[in-house]
Amino acid sequence: MRLILLGAPGAGKGTQANFIKEKFGIPQISTGDMLRAAVKAGTPLGLEAKKIMDAGGLVRDDIIIGLVKERIAQDDCKNGFLFDGFPRTLPQAEALKDANVAIDYVVEIDVPDSEIVERITGRRVHPASGRVYHVVFNPPKTEGRDDETGEPLIQRDDDSEATVQKRLAVYHEQTEVLVGYYSQLAASGDDRAPKYVKIAGVGPVEEIRDRVFDALGATV
Ligand code: AP5
Ligand code: ZN
Repeated sequence: MRLILLGAPGAGKGTQANFIKEKFGIPQISTGDMLRAAVKAGTPLGLEAKKIMDAGGLVRDDIIIGLVKERIAQDDCKNGFLFDGFPRTLPQAEALKDANVAIDYVVEIDVPDSEIVERITGRRVHPASGRVYHVVFNPPKTEGRDDETGEPLIQRDDDSEATVQKRLAVYHEQTEVLVGYYSQLAASGDDRAPKYVKIAGVGPVEEIRDRVFDALGATV
């Protein structure tokens, strides 16, 4: 199974990715997580990406496409993978198509902008595993600690209210176009085109998970 999770910042891509990767036994490829790992490691890419991410902008297409191509060539991607946060621009989607990477599903998680700021400003993450929490909507068992390891949770540097607004604007300007791009591809009649599924992303996390599994033909 190869799929793309599409949605605004804070729509719940990372949250749902954690369910999907376990259910289907496929790796999650989050370009955001890869960039944050580069920032933490202090690599030249990390140093360049940090400024862009903290400002809510997008890292250059050629850099992202290079990262993704290298990642999907690895052994654990043989039986499929889940893209979280990629593609994010038309050139990224075209590059994927040109590379003949056959995608089974594009899953759009639809959440109105009005919900996003509260979700993102209350987010806490466990960087090592990618597990995502929310202080109100999805709290950890012990405040500030990861459920499985007990390690401290952190707040992302780009999760301030001002940066969220910028990220949302960038989403509408550069990423939302992919909703039309992939729905048209799915409707084109080409049986190699990915199926397009739109999921209402407001409601309890487990309900959204069930909607996604349902759409993918999997039971909980
Ligand atoms: P990235 O890490 O991809 O961030 P994003 O797209 O802005 O998405 P988020 O991770 O903020 O949200 P999410 O949809 O995963 O939501 P989550 O599940 O965490 O990218 C970061 C940056 O890296 C970009 O700004 C860019 O600079 C760069 N970058 C990355 N990829 C790139 C690319 N391809 N090209 C160029 N640049 C790139 O949930 C959010 C919160 O809501 C959590 O607290 C969660 O607990 C809560 N929540 C989840 N579901 C629900 C629910 N149903 N109800 C209530 N709360 C919920
Ligand atoms: Zn995420």
